[in-house]
Amino acid sequence: MDEKAVRDIVQQAARAPSVHNTQPWRFVARDNAIELWTDPSRGLAVLDPAGRARHISCGAAMLHLRVASANAGYASTVTLLPDPAHPDHLGDVYLDPAGEPAEADRGLAAAIEARHTVREAFAVAALPAAVVTELRHAAEVEGCWLRIVDGADESIAVAALLARADEMERADPAYIAELRRWTDRAADSNEGVPASAIPDVAPAERGSIYRLRDFVADRESSSTRAAEPPPVERPLVVVLGTRDDDVASWLAAGQGLGRLLLTAQRDGVAASPMTQPLEVPGTRARLATELGVVGHPQMIIRLGYAGENAGGGAATAKPRRPVEQIITPQVPPD
Ligand SMILES: Cc1cc2nc3c(=O)[nH]c(=O)nc-3n(C[C@H](O)[C@H](O)[C@H](O)COP(=O)(O)O)c2cc1C
Repeated sequence: MDEKAVRDIVQQAARAPSVHNTQPWRFVARDNAIELWTDPSRGLAVLDPAGRARHISCGAAMLHLRVASANAGYASTVTLLPDPAHPDHLGDVYLDPAGEPAEADRGLAAAIEARHTVREAFAVAALPAAVVTELRHAAEVEGCWLRIVDGADESIAVAALLARADEMERADPAYIAELRRWTDRAADSNEGVPASAIPDVAPAERGSIYRLRDFVADRESSSTRAAEPPPVERPLVVVLGTRDDDVASWLAAGQGLGRLLLTAQRDGVAASPMTQPLEVPGTRARLATELGVVGHPQMIIRLGYAGENAGGGAATAKPRRPVEQIITPQVPPD
């Protein structure tokens, strides 16, 4: 394949969301395929000891790879986990010239550059049923289920688990130290969560029952209390999950997440994951019980229409490592 096409496709794969923007991936270009590898050295030992969030992040990059390939005129065939001797080798995407991309692929590909996590308050307007159906479909075609959090009882149960898990995580000095490593970075850093992507209002002081992750490691508790009551938001909250809970399921969850977020962006819907309850074993099990789901919750996502203040800095920051750093010429050494 021509080198420029590969670089373009990999650059778009790397625009995928990843936990704490760790970008735990690398790519190997072959004649007719692009290999996706995970880089465990970029894992989060405290937040994600099993590597679940790391594999979900790589799954999202795989989905971007497929969408970008289709948009560049290639039909892709994916072989997941091709080599049991190398479990970090997550998949091979075989590419065949296929001509003009389908309209649907073009629409999703156009969303890749624009998509970013929006942590500001959303407008109160609800998502139309047709949009919610599209989001559900996006998760399902990638082998996941999508459970809409519905009604006051479920919302309060999910909100309580979020607050509980968030408090447990923030009480752990090792979690805070790890968070600091991925947030406290130079302004021109190309990894981690930049200050411009973090809202000024502390998560505990937002007008919402849902506690977003606080990316400020050293926040003083009462620092930014506002004189005015904060705006109230009523986001759509969804839980994306899988039947099993192994590496293949995490990769499916990542591809479901990737497709759902691109579909949302295409439809003008903003999103932010809020995954604290999934990182604490007790609250993860409790979430499944509260919602009566069969299987394993993999992502919790907040969706809505971005308000006036959303997106400015975050939309432009988009730190990512350059393509030269993430395409390795041959199979990386063990
Ligand atoms: C598995 C996973 C978990 C995440 N959890 C959270 C979270 O709890 N809170 C949050 O604000 N963002 C979360 N994110 C979003 C990442 O922080 C975000 O994708 C990353 O910083 C890159 O920014 P971008 O999405 O704007 O490109 C998560 C992303 C992934 C893939």
